[in-house]
Amino acid sequence: LTGGLALLFCLVQSAAAITVGFSQVGSESGWRTSFSESVKAEAKRRSIELKFSDAQQKQENQIKAVRSFIAQGVDAIMIAPVVETGWKPVLREAKRARIPVVILDRNVDVKNASLFLTRIASDFVEEGRRAANWLMEETGGNCSILELQGTVGATAAIDRMKGFNEVIAKYPNAKIVRSQTGEFTRTKGKEVMEAMLKAENSGKDICALWAHNDEMALGGIQAIKEAGLKPGADMLVVSVDGVPDYFKAMADGDANATVELNPHLGAPAFDVIERYLNGDRKIDKLITTTGDLFTQETAAEEYKKRAAK
Ligand code: AHR
Repeated sequence: LTGGLALLFCLVQSAAAITVGFSQVGSESGWRTSFSESVKAEAKRRSIELKFSDAQQKQENQIKAVRSFIAQGVDAIMIAPVVETGWKPVLREAKRARIPVVILDRNVDVKNASLFLTRIASDFVEEGRRAANWLMEETGGNCSILELQGTVGATAAIDRMKGFNEVIAKYPNAKIVRSQTGEFTRTKGKEVMEAMLKAENSGKDICALWAHNDEMALGGIQAIKEAGLKPGADMLVVSVDGVPDYFKAMADGDANATVELNPHLGAPAFDVIERYLNGDRKIDKLITTTGDLFTQETAAEEYKKRAAK
């Protein structure tokens, strides 16, 4: 019993003493802000010392932050990568320093899977497929689409585009007529949508806006209104995330559907880190989160729930 108590004491002690560095993409969207808040709240709840670094959407800032975490000798590092490529050198440095790295949300493109412990993320390809399936059902497969892409080189943009295109390829009368990056932000989403609408006869022959996230969709909705059309009716709007503002837009009839992306990554991330630091080596390489597709039907009720949080 004494041995058991001593072990328990050690585990509690080590959990309390953990320091984790987290390099976050930035604060480009409401979804990202909820994600950061979830990590901060969970660290506090578990008495984990969190070193939080906002990369302002720049990978170079992330690499600097990770190097600084290594120099400070943190117990673990979490990275939510801006883009997929360019991670090998710094991940090798972390490995050499024996610091486990957890990848959150977007992926890293490295051949050697031992460079990180696990990745916790949603299936972005499936999100694209679900958005497209909804749109094809809604329009009978007859639809000219404007696409607002996320950040170039980011998994969430690459994979959502892939899943969406895979589905619409089965419908000869569905096509993306214009596609451009809005960098996952509301401002850029609006600006790019304005330009696309101008180039497309003010959007008169466009059936839908497909945005890689709600934030850009909300900017796009603004642009559609300013072009004299009714978003949600003259032009359907479908996207991904499920942020409260978008639920409000759906409840108001300005948007039509969104595929929810779970922002609560703090708890699963710290779970695996604590398990690993306590000696567990049986950690899955990919931990997948899921989310439903929501439409106007339940939007008002969902908005009430989510805005209250
Ligand atoms: O990587 C996930 C995407 O990043 C979210 O859909 C978007 O809102 C964020 O900027």
